[in-house]
Amino acid sequence: MLIKSTKRSDESENQVTDETVFNSRRDVLKKLGFLGAGSLLGGSALANPLDWFKDERPPKFVQSELSFNVDTSTKQTLTPESQAINYNNFYEFGTSKSDPAKHAQSFKVNPWKLEVEGLVENPLTLDYDDLLTKFPLEERIYRLRCVEAWSMVIPWIGFSLSRLLKQAKPLSSAKYVAFETVYDPKQMRGQRSRFLGGGVDYPYIEGLRLDEAMHPLALMTVGMYGKTLPPQNGAPVRLTVPWKYGFKSIKSLVKIKLVDKMPPTSWNILIPSEYGFYANVNPKVAHPRWSQARERRIVGASVLDQKRIDTKMFNGYEEVTSLYTGMDLARYY
Ligand code: MTE
Repeated sequence: MLIKSTKRSDESENQVTDETVFNSRRDVLKKLGFLGAGSLLGGSALANPLDWFKDERPPKFVQSELSFNVDTSTKQTLTPESQAINYNNFYEFGTSKSDPAKHAQSFKVNPWKLEVEGLVENPLTLDYDDLLTKFPLEERIYRLRCVEAWSMVIPWIGFSLSRLLKQAKPLSSAKYVAFETVYDPKQMRGQRSRFLGGGVDYPYIEGLRLDEAMHPLALMTVGMYGKTLPPQNGAPVRLTVPWKYGFKSIKSLVKIKLVDKMPPTSWNILIPSEYGFYANVNPKVAHPRWSQARERRIVGASVLDQKRIDTKMFNGYEEVTSLYTGMDLARYY
């Protein structure tokens, strides 16, 4: 993000949670002493994230609930993990790509509380353990295309946002979903000053239309590369919306609120002419200051190890096209 001054699976839908799988995952966590360990999980322990996922796989990951292939060009190389965890945008920890890895390591992610509220029949509060155990976890390889025209291919771990929303039971008046990142200036240096935080008015907020949020591609993400998320990538839980520019994929979520009006979003508030609400990846609509027709795919051990490729509409996730039928996507950018 720039500021102005400067195959996994094509299995069929609904491989529903097998309770025993999740209970046994809970048991494993308990045995390892992770559940209820509270502050033990804060601090530098997270620099090297818990890798209980690794031990659990397979068969603890459920088959994808997606009825289509999420990785349409499987031949593509995965971005090395070292890049994905060291070249980040997380302005709460600073504006340079190396800042989050440098300044987020002692960020405390347990205890955590994520509230799901607003226009719902069944408000929810999820704690850290719930986030890792309550929903069936899938591994999905997604391309993430940043508005700055670089992209990565990352094996994420998470569950469809739709599962969470269904559990909260949106009322018929709910039309949009508003998301909010934790506000904790003591831990997040970027929230202490406009200079350090790139001018964003914190907490960082994002939004989706309800039908976008219900699309099975929208992923509540708790892990990557077979491990829990490192703090710089949005631990303990973030959103990954692969058909939209990366800034929609809001990190370290504490609130999800169902609302009836289009919610404000951080980058749109800061520079409305450059960052719209929809932010669908669209090679035909240039950012006012640069083209979006091509991207630099980060593929090697050095950030300079890049492949220049054409950007695809919706980042190649054509499955979402019908969400935007009849909309002028140049106007609703
Ligand atoms: N979420 C919060 N809370 N703060 C941020 O600065 N940056 C966004 C998004 N989520 C950001 C955020 C941007 S611009 C991008 S490109 C992605 O996170 C980057 O995710 P990654 O660092 O895991 O690749």
